[in-house]
Amino acid sequence: MIRPCTLQHTMIFSSRCTRKIRCILLIVAIFFLISFVIDLFQNKKDGGPGPLDTNIALQNLDISEVRKTEMRLYKIDESSLFAPKLNNSKSDNILSLLVESPKNGKVDKEMASNLISSKPIINPHLYEYRIYPRKNCQNHDITLVMGVTVSRDKFESRQAIRDTWGSYAKVASNKAVLVFFIGSESDAVPSEVQKRIDEEARIHGDILQESYVDHYKNLSLKSVSLLKWASQHCPQSDFLLKSDDDMYVNVPLLLKTLNTTAASPGGGKLFIIGRLHKSVEPIRYTRSKYYTSENIYNQTVFPLYVSGTSYAMTTSAAALLYETTLRVPLFWLEDVYVTGICGKLAGVPIINTYMFPYKRPDPTGCGLRWSVSGHKYTPEQMRTIHSELYDATIRCDHVER
Ligand SMILES: *[C@@H]1O[C@H](CO)[C@@H](O)[C@H](O)[C@H]1NC(C)=O
Ligand SMILES: *[C@@H]1O[C@H](CO)[C@@H](O)[C@H](O)[C@H]1NC(C)=O
Ligand SMILES: *[C@@H]1O[C@H](CO)[C@@H](O)[C@H](O)[C@H]1NC(C)=O
Ligand SMILES: *[C@@H]1O[C@H](CO)[C@@H](O)[C@H](O)[C@H]1NC(C)=O
Repeated sequence: MIRPCTLQHTMIFSSRCTRKIRCILLIVAIFFLISFVIDLFQNKKDGGPGPLDTNIALQNLDISEVRKTEMRLYKIDESSLFAPKLNNSKSDNILSLLVESPKNGKVDKEMASNLISSKPIINPHLYEYRIYPRKNCQNHDITLVMGVTVSRDKFESRQAIRDTWGSYAKVASNKAVLVFFIGSESDAVPSEVQKRIDEEARIHGDILQESYVDHYKNLSLKSVSLLKWASQHCPQSDFLLKSDDDMYVNVPLLLKTLNTTAASPGGGKLFIIGRLHKSVEPIRYTRSKYYTSENIYNQTVFPLYVSGTSYAMTTSAAALLYETTLRVPLFWLEDVYVTGICGKLAGVPIINTYMFPYKRPDPTGCGLRWSVSGHKYTPEQMRTIHSELYDATIRCDHVER
């Protein structure tokens, strides 16, 4: 009679069972031995990804290699990294001409500005500067404007960003400026919060506060505030980053990506880069936080847009978009409004990259090593990521190259 081998049997050392167990142990041991040998062999072959020395890593980083990895991992081809050509021929808007007559396949900036200035301003952004950043682009040769849109009372987030990825701006030779964009409270009387903000601004000089009411329904105004400041006060800069306050941004990798994109045929002087959202429908469920009524948006889908958690663009694109926002009714979802609705009207191409991931990377240095940004991090997690990302002793063995 064949009986199953149970724990009880192993205890009484039935010879059939010990043989079975020995056999299993042997298989497990062989498995570990093989994987160990493979590991050893691989590390010998290419030295592994090696420790991260950010400067060296970035010098040697070939974005086209990263792109190839991206394409392999996500099974996409080069063309899908770029959004389809914009086509708004259905609109009788004069701006549609921008898209219909691109010069050499690209939008001509001057033509765009001319066309835009022939449309009336219906939506002027005339908010008073309550606090103006002391650290600005005046008398500086700035490459990158890093704009963080943040709620006025998020003191800790601002400090964590200053201490971590935003510290890139502290090195003068990096030619970057970090500015936090905040609104005001409805009551003109300064509150305790406002006093603390004034003090913070006095110490750090990196806050820009305008007089519009700070409210999540007013996030589009905050982004317009950033577009306005970057295009009017930093017109000589090359690029603009827009980031939320719970992000970690791998700034050196971002710059490398921007540089490469600007030099590529799909990029040029005018582009928005980020993670593309396609065919997104407005939420009509009245109890949702994202409820959008048909009165404020009556189409069934939003235009192509990039995720608002973080995106970047050329400063030329920012100038064109700012001009466009003045002529297009505000819509409360800032990413849909700025990069989608206005981006489409202005004919600014969207470049989609998986380097701005939808999926939140682990809050570790390795998680952010090959991502331009990651979202939903606490201030503590930002600090962890930052110290690990720049720690030359940490190996990121799971990273595929
Ligand atoms: C834009 O769309 C219209 C129809 O909606 C089409 O006839 C036209 O060829 C398209 N233009 C481009 C440049 O794709
Ligand atoms: C947005 O800001 C404007 C200008 O300050 C203000 O009139 C409006 O009430 C604000 N919206 C919300 C939802 O607070
Ligand atoms: C970007 O390009 C400029 C010149 O085109 C160069 O000076 C700069 O070092 C580059 N930055 C990065 C991070 O590649
Ligand atoms: C959407 O609203 C615009 C005016 O804001 C109107 O011209 C258009 O006909 C509306 N479209 C639909 C499908 O209701």
